[in-house]
Amino acid sequence: MSEVWVCQFRSCSRDGAEMVSAALQESAPPHIQVVPTGCLGLCGSGPIVVVTEDDCFYWRMTPAKSHRMAQEHLVGRSPVTEYLHPRLHPPGP
Ligand code: FES
Repeated sequence: MSEVWVCQFRSCSRDGAEMVSAALQESAPPHIQVVPTGCLGLCGSGPIVVVTEDDCFYWRMTPAKSHRMAQEHLVGRSPVTEYLHPRLHPPGP
């Protein structure tokens, strides 16, 4: 089973990680498990969400962004590039 990690540690939690987690639980397809985690090392740019299967790190997530990401990435298999963390996923040339 694939997993989506949602950091629930300090700064991500303060920035709404619990609502992000709830949105993903609601819209992720059944074969994807949404897993709360501790700090993922990217504090201050959260809430951080990781699609483990594709090694994609999303930053500054909100419930609305989470619903879109679930549809396009988790269901449609196409990452939402504008939501990816720019330090880990630098924009192409
Ligand atoms: S608190 Fe979420 S990445 Fe550190």
